[in-house]
Amino acid sequence: MLTAPADNGLPLRVAHHWWRDAVIYQVYVRSFLDSTGDGIGDLAGVRAGLPYLKKLGVDGIWLSPFYPSPQHDHGYDVADYCDVDPVFGDLAEFDLLVAAARRLGVKVLLDIVPNHCSSEHVWFREALAAGPGSAARARFHFADGRGPDGEEPPNNWRAMFGGPAWSRVVEEDGTPGQWYLHMFTPEQPDLNWRNPEVGAHFEHVLRFWLDRGVDGFRIDVAAGLFKHPALPDSPDPEADERTRDSVNPLAWNQPEVHDVWRHWRAICEEYAAKDGRERLLVGEVSVPTPREHALYVRPDELHQAFFFDLLGAPWDADAFQKIISGAMQDIAGTGSTVTWVLNNHDQVRTVTRYGESGTGGSGLGSARARAAALLMMALPGSAYIYQGEELGLPEVVDLPDDVLTDPIFRRTGSRKRIRDGCRVPLPWSGHASPFGFTSGTEGARPWLPQPEWFAEHATDRALADTRSFWHLYRDGLQLRRGLPQFAEGGLRWLESPPEVLAFVRGDGLVCAVNFGTGPVPAPVAGTPLLASGPCADGVLPGSTAAWWISDSAAL
Ligand code: GLC
Repeated sequence: MLTAPADNGLPLRVAHHWWRDAVIYQVYVRSFLDSTGDGIGDLAGVRAGLPYLKKLGVDGIWLSPFYPSPQHDHGYDVADYCDVDPVFGDLAEFDLLVAAARRLGVKVLLDIVPNHCSSEHVWFREALAAGPGSAARARFHFADGRGPDGEEPPNNWRAMFGGPAWSRVVEEDGTPGQWYLHMFTPEQPDLNWRNPEVGAHFEHVLRFWLDRGVDGFRIDVAAGLFKHPALPDSPDPEADERTRDSVNPLAWNQPEVHDVWRHWRAICEEYAAKDGRERLLVGEVSVPTPREHALYVRPDELHQAFFFDLLGAPWDADAFQKIISGAMQDIAGTGSTVTWVLNNHDQVRTVTRYGESGTGGSGLGSARARAAALLMMALPGSAYIYQGEELGLPEVVDLPDDVLTDPIFRRTGSRKRIRDGCRVPLPWSGHASPFGFTSGTEGARPWLPQPEWFAEHATDRALADTRSFWHLYRDGLQLRRGLPQFAEGGLRWLESPPEVLAFVRGDGLVCAVNFGTGPVPAPVAGTPLLASGPCADGVLPGSTAAWWISDSAAL
């Protein structure tokens, strides 16, 4: 039997801030909806999809980067932070999107990428032209190489996506010259945050978008920015590449980064004080320990930081319980709330992670993904839904090599196929590709091919079928918003069989998840309020989650 840890029982006594329990929908713009017929989603497409998202019941959207970019890492290589790439629209279209979202009461978060820019950013071009020792190079990490003629990189660091973290430039006179640091691809040079010009530039960028009405920012690689000032060799240079996590202690998580988040928080507070609209900073923070994670969400730093552990968790009650309890304990006392994530644009989708691949997916993986969704929606804190998750999309695992665009595939000599399969454009309607994704009809081709079985997941079918993933998410979000039991507070674990997690929220909202395959007695008698699969009275079938309202005193 699982014991009930005596944790998280106390409600946090804080004023209500919208972000604390917000549900944010991640829009991967190039794969959401294409309004121009070029096969690539765009901002006008996002605007057209807003009523759909409003109906789903999310509080806000996070837009993946849409700035001008050569797209070596799908926009995470920004060439101009204050504009829109023509492929996605323009600033006027952006303004229309923000206005439409505001009318619907949907918040808009942008993705800001401060650790690195594109090698086509004007600063990097100037740095290449200006040469060693110049002020233009001081905005990046340029250094002379080691060994005879500087042939060896300045240190042994490796890039996250594979290969050395340094590339050598050819100087103006045609000779091999200095090296520059890039923790991702060579087309993403790291900025030198010890240079005050860099911080000043990003303050300008923040204000530019805040002045255009956005509600906050998702911050890319938020434990990055500063590097160890001496750029020394790493004792385990392959660690980042091996783990796909930012674990090089010399390249990430330097103490100075916290000053940046304090400053950005102050900027957000300044805007809120002016117009009463609270802005949100949510960081992509990958750090080795929960204690360090908590430092990023101290009351004067980021409002939230993604809690990614469920993304890597096996389908196992014990593993889930440890992660949930740990997250809540670590975050308690910081003033923040846990920010749950089951899917995003960098990871294999849950339906496939939990058991299925490639085809329509109405089996085990889907059942588990539905149960996980109900679990996430019942947890205290906020939740992020990645587009297509509400349709129960499985990963597209069999994309041909020649259509893959993820730089990880290229940089690992075609060994790692990781991030394309979750980025395939959404199916909206109909029985054949492009499934209403693109406005062009005959011959219009989405930028990644959609498999035939996407038809089973198209939004028109999902909306028409009350047993669909979509209805589960919609109903769950409605209850979550409406029931007082979901208001602020922690959770209390209930005793349950080893393959089951069961907990109570507030005054008697019970959520139970059966991670096993066989049925178990339900923790509460009566028909569930909502269940991820068919549920007879008194029984919780395998791979199923359900919610009940019960008299909390009886539990
Ligand atoms: C983040 C993004 C990822 C991107 C990387 C580099 O991890 O989520 O998609 O490739 O940063 O910017």
